[in-house]
Amino acid sequence: MNILGIETSCDETAAAVVKEGTTIAASVVASQIEVHRRYGGVVPELASRKHIEAIVPVVDEALNKSDLFLRDIDAIAVTRGPGLVGALLVGFSFAKACAYALEIPWVGVNHLEGHINSVFLEPDPPSFPFVALLVSGGHTNIYHVTSHITVELMGQTRDDAAGEAFDKVAKMLGLGYPGGGVIDRIARAGDPARIKFPRTYLDKSGFDFSFSGIKTAVNRYIMNHKDHLKDQIPDIAAGFQEAVMDVLCYKAIHAAMRKGCDRIALVGGVAANSRLREKLRSDAQRKGICVHIPSLHLCGDNAAMIAAVGYHYLKAGIVSDLQDDVFSRNR
Ligand code: KG4
Ligand code: ZN
Repeated sequence: MNILGIETSCDETAAAVVKEGTTIAASVVASQIEVHRRYGGVVPELASRKHIEAIVPVVDEALNKSDLFLRDIDAIAVTRGPGLVGALLVGFSFAKACAYALEIPWVGVNHLEGHINSVFLEPDPPSFPFVALLVSGGHTNIYHVTSHITVELMGQTRDDAAGEAFDKVAKMLGLGYPGGGVIDRIARAGDPARIKFPRTYLDKSGFDFSFSGIKTAVNRYIMNHKDHLKDQIPDIAAGFQEAVMDVLCYKAIHAAMRKGCDRIALVGGVAANSRLREKLRSDAQRKGICVHIPSLHLCGDNAAMIAAVGYHYLKAGIVSDLQDDVFSRNR
């Protein structure tokens, strides 16, 4: 089955062609970072407008790269939510119209289930059940995953998402937007132990997160050390990153132990973080847990993961119809 995947939930217009839910024939991601950078965050109206401009060329490019024609596409999978409503509507309406015209089935899928399924686009995917740590700009969630389309939320952030904290701290340090990748890079030159930022575990036996406290602590540190800030940026970045990663790794490993799982999938934009990739692997190994992390191009938003999860909905006979609509938040 050749599935055309479409993703427009935030600031990436993406299309992909995936065969049998696992083999990527083509994956195209058009980023809008340049449009939003000067505002220091995603501007929803601009995002919608850019999606409208990009959707047709991006789908065309994905088809060209896959060496397939529209008539070879058996079904369409598209992100239904969560995300920015105006942005989602562009991809969702496009998918509806395209499937209607081609007289093929289509299915609207959950973006977060897409991230979880990104590990199945890699050669050595985890077996079920496993625990997924999903860390992105909008979410920090822990799931118990028992099938491609059966996921139980075990915990989530009560305030900021981990990626959002990275972006805000980068902004405070004048490192630009988005900040995750820059902090990752600069932290390599810093000492993670010199400045001790707080680790917020909340209830240590639970799986919820909170990242607003550490953000405030970094801000306070910056205010108190204004004079010699420049020299300290690598240590601040490293100290902040280490504090966030300590909590993420602790909770993911404890969730796996609670559920008796010997596998963890690390997914979402922040899964691109080099320290998190290394630390979760080594901490988990000590507990006999194997960690699956997608390649960098599958960590951030992409449409291959949407096609991958869509495949399993379609195989289960679940399809969408023209009355269906997008949703902004998980219900
Ligand atoms: O999954 P994603 O592409 O979009 C959402 O669905 O949110 O995640 C984007 C987030 C941003 O907050 C970005 O700063 C963060 O992922 N990010 C990183 C890294 N690369 C991207 N955070 C930490 N380290 C990185 N290397
Ligand atoms: Zn995402």
